[in-house]
Amino acid sequence: MRAIQIVDLSGPAGALHLVDLPEPEQSASHPLSPGEGVVIDVHAAGVSFPEVLQTRGEYQHKPPLPFVPGSEVAGVVRSAPAGAGVSVGERAAAFCVLGAFAEVAVAPAFLTFPLPDVLDFAQGAGLILNYHTAYFALALRGRLKAGETVLVHGAAGGVGTAALQVAAGLGARTIAVVSSEEKALVARAAGADEVLRSEGPWKDEAKELSGGGVDLVLDPVGGDRFTDSLRSLGADGRLVVVGFTGGSIPEVKVNRLLLGNVEVVGAGWGAYALARPQLCREIGDAIGRLIDEGFVRPIVGARFPLERTAEALQAIDERRATGKVVLELR
Ligand SMILES: NC(=O)c1ccc[n+]([C@@H]2O[C@H](COP(=O)([O-])OP(=O)(O)OC[C@H]3O[C@@H](n4cnc5c(N)ncnc54)[C@H](OP(=O)(O)O)[C@@H]3O)[C@@H](O)[C@H]2O)c1
Repeated sequence: MRAIQIVDLSGPAGALHLVDLPEPEQSASHPLSPGEGVVIDVHAAGVSFPEVLQTRGEYQHKPPLPFVPGSEVAGVVRSAPAGAGVSVGERAAAFCVLGAFAEVAVAPAFLTFPLPDVLDFAQGAGLILNYHTAYFALALRGRLKAGETVLVHGAAGGVGTAALQVAAGLGARTIAVVSSEEKALVARAAGADEVLRSEGPWKDEAKELSGGGVDLVLDPVGGDRFTDSLRSLGADGRLVVVGFTGGSIPEVKVNRLLLGNVEVVGAGWGAYALARPQLCREIGDAIGRLIDEGFVRPIVGARFPLERTAEALQAIDERRATGKVVLELR
């Protein structure tokens, strides 16, 4: 099968090679479900920030070189163990941790979900990492309630667009923060109620729009804007830390938490959820309901064939990506 490997740590322009590898066996096992796995004919694979970091050896997990990157796919089930929740020939979306940038991939059954007909394969390839993270961060870690107001940073990105849709599905009002007019349009397409610009006075605007302070900030960006995020919260507000695309990891002066009666909450979906199969299924069910209700519709910002994977990673690296970047393999 054709696959992409990371062969060195020179960055997205040089680290990726298109290679020919043996296909996984019919009853291949996945490391998260030893002894069994769902084998999928990959139609689309999702591209995300971690793959960019992996081409430089900067991601927390550092598999030995060479390896096939890519954490999520959508495709057609080739084989599945009993009780998998998907059957042979069915369309599915799956999180495979690694190995997604290949024509055939293996995922654990507890992270493989039927792909509803309303979503195409490219949308299915953007369904798990971002939407499970958004639900985990907003509903479980952030305790978001209907009627609350959520401010989403990086709102035109993969996690950002997912968070806007999931928050709306949970009955919240959303304020998106983005860096350009093009990204403002993407945030609106993802259903943002209000859109603010990151280079403007977004903190004051958010306070005014929310009548004194937002209830929750979802932050995949970090960096300089962190202190203003804390200041934009109302009493009982929660700032949920999801990532650091802005480049630097902020520090908190904890007197601000005391003065504002606010919390900073970490949300690391992978480390928590991948060790809890039942939780993964519950989040998958919740996302499935939000698809049925029309709230969840992954926004695919760019599509590339497998041989142009480097360009897909560069779009993310250079802050040009919107929504989900996807590789199309069939
Ligand atoms: N905690 C978890 O469980 C979890 C799960 C999935 C992903 N993540 C992390 O969440 C972050 C966002 O992932 P994503 O897939 O949404 O990425 P993405 O699609 O590239 O979006 C990230 C957004 O960050 C903003 N940004 C601000 N400064 C940036 C810079 N210097 N370079 C690039 N982007 C910058 C951009 O929005 P503007 O241009 O509008 O500012 C961009 O749209 C990543 O750090 C990822 O590793 C965490």
